[in-house]
Amino acid sequence: MPLPLWTGRFRKGLDRQVNAYNASISFDARLYRQDILGSMAHTTMLAGQGIISKEDENAIRQGLHEILDDMDGGRLVPDPDAEDIHMFIEAELTRRVGDAGKRLHTGRSRNDQVALDLRLYLRDVCLEIREGYLALYQTLISIARQHLHTIMPGYTHLQRAQPVTLAHHLMAYVEMLARDIGRLDDMTRRMDVMPLGSGALAGTTYPLDREQVAGILGFSAISLNSMDAVSDRDFVIELAAALALFMVHASRLCEELILWSSQEYAFIELDDAYSTGSSIMPQKKNPDVAELTRGKSGRVFGNLMTLLTMMKGLPLAYNKDMQEDKEAIFDSVDTVRLCLPALTGLIESMKINTNRMAEAAAGGFTNATDLADYLVLKGVPFRNAHEVSGQLVRFCLDRQCALQDLTLDEMKAYSRFIEEDVYEAIRLENCVGRRRLPGGPAPETVLAALDQASARF
Ligand code: ARG
Repeated sequence: MPLPLWTGRFRKGLDRQVNAYNASISFDARLYRQDILGSMAHTTMLAGQGIISKEDENAIRQGLHEILDDMDGGRLVPDPDAEDIHMFIEAELTRRVGDAGKRLHTGRSRNDQVALDLRLYLRDVCLEIREGYLALYQTLISIARQHLHTIMPGYTHLQRAQPVTLAHHLMAYVEMLARDIGRLDDMTRRMDVMPLGSGALAGTTYPLDREQVAGILGFSAISLNSMDAVSDRDFVIELAAALALFMVHASRLCEELILWSSQEYAFIELDDAYSTGSSIMPQKKNPDVAELTRGKSGRVFGNLMTLLTMMKGLPLAYNKDMQEDKEAIFDSVDTVRLCLPALTGLIESMKINTNRMAEAAAGGFTNATDLADYLVLKGVPFRNAHEVSGQLVRFCLDRQCALQDLTLDEMKAYSRFIEEDVYEAIRLENCVGRRRLPGGPAPETVLAALDQASARF
């Protein structure tokens, strides 16, 4: 076991089990690149301010470069006995370049270092996840574009309610995703603050140039309170919350895909490449990708709760509890990263059975509201019109037919206001086409929404 870098005031080494308990390197090793980039910026600034010599700067820079190369190439692997990735890299640097390496940590603490590393890492992650959101967003838009006229039932309480189009239905998820993207953008803006220079909690006496470090690392601002900077994990929680809400949306979409791919609905057929079979039932084709997405939402919600609970009640400033932030947020990030391409591929490759959708829309009295609206146009008060339409539905149920199958005389028996033009009024295409208010399902309205959505990002 290598000696930790803080042994000075201790009489004996760390208990083996405590060392394992205390260590975070098994999960924070993934921060090595960010840790090295942060250290390079810090080094440049230390030399620029005359705090370390040019020679030390060069030696540190050279050493960090080599460590980065070696870690990228798999020639240097994190020592599981090192406490964390920060200690590992610093110890390795000192092993390679000697005393210069021991000057790297001047004016810095692991507390501001880890706050920096995590911001740098999550900044890249947010960009990557944003790309994944956008790919799903655009996939939904392009399918919607092809189905502006594909009539399907809209549901409430999972009962057929009123006709909509597949385009309109899919565009609901596009709106959810637009908010997901907006949430990521909002939180990345708030995360864009450089904490180095906060030290352990009380800043530092060295004349650091914090603005320069922020500039090198591409941050637009520096933190303004050292105690907050080292103990703030709002950015982690905000990302966890944003990802959790995305998983709510993904899970709802997946639930629909699961229903739609059942033989009972048969609205869609999932591609073989995105479905799995059963080990016993030869006929089975299961929507595992959608089910896994629905299932994995649980861990992403759990991670958010982990983080909120971990931070709750922590006194200022840094506390070791906060080391627990990484596994939770990394798991959320990894889960969403896995889910996005699978879900996008599933949707891109599914076959859509427009006939089944049309049949379902035609069969569930989804035009009963339109029949009532028709009577209102003829001067019947809405409540009476509702009653007449309901009685006609009852009549159809007994005869096992749809409203549009009734003869004019059969309808007239319930209201003298019904004329030949009723058939046009309750044709599903017309029921949808007349709903042109902004936000409605009429093809031209959805097309406008689609164009707006395409131009949004
Ligand atoms: N591994 C630690 C973490 O992830 C780094 C900071 C440790 N700071 C300290 N004072 N022990 O939070």
